[in-house]
Amino acid sequence: MTGTVIVTGAGSGIGRAIALHLAADGYNVVVNDFRAEAAAAVAGEIGAKARAVAGDVSQEADVAAMVATARAAFGKVTHLVNNAGHVHQALFTDLTIADFDRMIAVHLRGTFLCTHAVLPGMLERGSGVIVNIASQLGQIGGIELAHYSAAKAGIIGMTKALAREVSARGVRVNAVAPGPINTPLVRSLSEDWQRAKAAELPLGRFGEPEEVAAAVTFLCSPAASLFVGQTLGPNSGDVML
Ligand SMILES: NC(=O)c1ccc[n+]([C@@H]2O[C@H](COP(=O)([O-])OP(=O)(O)OC[C@H]3O[C@@H](n4cnc5c(N)ncnc54)[C@H](O)[C@@H]3O)[C@@H](O)[C@H]2O)c1
Repeated sequence: MTGTVIVTGAGSGIGRAIALHLAADGYNVVVNDFRAEAAAAVAGEIGAKARAVAGDVSQEADVAAMVATARAAFGKVTHLVNNAGHVHQALFTDLTIADFDRMIAVHLRGTFLCTHAVLPGMLERGSGVIVNIASQLGQIGGIELAHYSAAKAGIIGMTKALAREVSARGVRVNAVAPGPINTPLVRSLSEDWQRAKAAELPLGRFGEPEEVAAAVTFLCSPAASLFVGQTLGPNSGDVML
């Protein structure tokens, strides 16, 4: 494949695996992360076809700078993977307004800002692909994760709305809603939760980041031409829709 993809939050876990997978598939890759060293390390793994861009996806100026760097390096952005995110657990009554605002800012506002920055160019060219990383918790909800579940459900809703709006103009928009995946994010959740969760999965194990990256690479490819506004579920069978 040829093209240039921005992968946000690509300094770790699922985003890193997506960046490596798409690079192996032939894409130029802009590796974003708000941890500059992590972005640089992944871009270094890829080599000449990658650029590291430090920036917070919830900040408009950082997103504008990221897209400008991508265009300066590679001419145009053909693909966007909105992946940056974090997790935080608290009972609803213990959630602070700051917890809630930060969750919505990174996941939902970040997805909006990055999409808003690249979509006009895609529409002008009449082609583009956007993949949003949601979560199965945006479909079923999770205890102590009301803010996270709300942000991810919002991403699924935005994916469907935008897909309806732009697919006839050549831009395909889809989401991926992983189940538990073996990354630093999931390893930050309590061990009790991890043990109980693994035991209830039909597949009997968490996924690996590469298994999510394979689904994203498919959605980015022309083979996914009929996939519009869909939410794919690499989730070990935890949620079956
Ligand atoms: N791991 C899972 O089980 C799982 C399941 C479903 C969905 N997800 C989603 O997948 C995505 C990646 O998660 P992961 O498990 O790989 O986590 P991770 O912590 O390994 O990686 C997330 C990366 O995003 C970066 N990041 C966080 N906030 C950012 C911001 N504001 N701007 C730019 N970069 C930022 C972090 O520095 C980190 O490198 C997230 O959106 C997460 O919600 C993960």
